[in-house]
Amino acid sequence: MTELDLIIKNGKVVTASDTYVADVGVRDGKIDTIATNLSPEADTKVIDAKGKYVFPGGIDVHVHLQLPFSGTISADDFENGTKAAACGGVTTLIDFAIQAKGHSIMDAVEARRAEADPNVCVDYGLHAAITDWNEKTQAEIKQVIDYGIPTFKMFMIYKNEGWMADDGMLFSALEETAKHGGHIGVHAESVDVLDMLIERYAKEKEKWGAYGHTLSRPDYTEEEAILRALKWAEVTGGQLYIVHMSTGAGADAVHAAKEHGVNVYAETCPQYLLLDDEVFKGENGHLYATCPQVKKPHDSERLWKGLLNGDVQIVATDTCTFDTKQKAAWNGDFRKIPFGMPGVETMVPLMYTEGVGKRGFTVNHLVSLVSTNPAKLFGMYPKKGTIAIGSDADIVVFDPEKKITLKAENLQTNCDWSPFEGWKLVGYPAVTISKGEIVAEDGKFVGKVGHGEFLKRAPYGKL
Ligand code: URP
Ligand code: ZN
Ligand code: ZN
Repeated sequence: MTELDLIIKNGKVVTASDTYVADVGVRDGKIDTIATNLSPEADTKVIDAKGKYVFPGGIDVHVHLQLPFSGTISADDFENGTKAAACGGVTTLIDFAIQAKGHSIMDAVEARRAEADPNVCVDYGLHAAITDWNEKTQAEIKQVIDYGIPTFKMFMIYKNEGWMADDGMLFSALEETAKHGGHIGVHAESVDVLDMLIERYAKEKEKWGAYGHTLSRPDYTEEEAILRALKWAEVTGGQLYIVHMSTGAGADAVHAAKEHGVNVYAETCPQYLLLDDEVFKGENGHLYATCPQVKKPHDSERLWKGLLNGDVQIVATDTCTFDTKQKAAWNGDFRKIPFGMPGVETMVPLMYTEGVGKRGFTVNHLVSLVSTNPAKLFGMYPKKGTIAIGSDADIVVFDPEKKITLKAENLQTNCDWSPFEGWKLVGYPAVTISKGEIVAEDGKFVGKVGHGEFLKRAPYGKL
């Protein structure tokens, strides 16, 4: 038998269900052995993980790298965004191939792969965003799922971007994906009421500044859209995934629908758990504009509760990085702010400090939210999302004692600001390993560009 390439010694191995001290042996990019007292041979690299956790790599299922949006392009491209992921303990991410109207979904997938494949530093997958529903699109759904993209996205807003899906499209896509084991993720906001409110507050945009963004997107605009999408999932039998859920009312709606037997899952993001709309009142309030926007403290509390009681099963980031120069395009008009923020690099440590450190989440629950559940629901388990023999050696050696103060200047992201600037964290990734290769140490990227690969994912993902 050939020797192990790497041994991670004496760490506390954490899966969604268990915690135990063991050595993890890696060979050819896979977890080969889990045992006590593994002995290295001449060329075996050893990482001493005593006192540290050994987590499965984080999986961020909602990332927009180099996304053309709001007249600019999000600032973390596939190379830097995947480097940032590695630095923050994320070893897999899922980006989006957005269909252009009049074109096939596969055109978008091929174009996105050409941008990503040579440049990614960790593994990635794609969701297919459906913007144009017709007989050809319908016929393509099975082909796209068979290709390895079983998860689709539909935007209930963004008329101007040409991305919006109306209710008929959503209904039809839920019906069709259900036949082949796919699911539909929705960006749920009520477009008509939203547009009306935006124009109402824009009349006094100088008075409201960035706060106009939050005034024009009250929580009921998300709740109503979620309720509508839930109804279409109920009657079609399709599987629905609510992306970036930001409201307590949304969590209540998902809870009620699940009780009623609707096939629905939900995601939230650190910004909705940790920030509230007071941020828009600050001097740089416009930087925080994202879509949906961060809401009220009671919304955050309900979302935290949802993470504990199972209403919300996944934490992802909706990374869509715009730096201060790009954000400056707003020039006092809240309608012109490029919506989005960095996030993939800080998800795991923020959720550790705030979830495990401050709210008493178990490390196993943390792992389920940021790794195992995403792997299962998105068709990557057990290749990804666990520490088990035969799984990819995507591993984070996590130091629970490490104290850091978050500063944009110390992060890998191309962003020159952080929504969490100055936040004090206890616990940070010490080493990130992707398919057996060390890709980041102490928050610095040490891997290789092009090391990542496109992941073909399986249909019928469930939790
Ligand atoms: O503000 C955001 N989230 N920008 C990216 C597009 C989206 O809605 O996910
Ligand atoms: Zn969205
Ligand atoms: Zn998004």
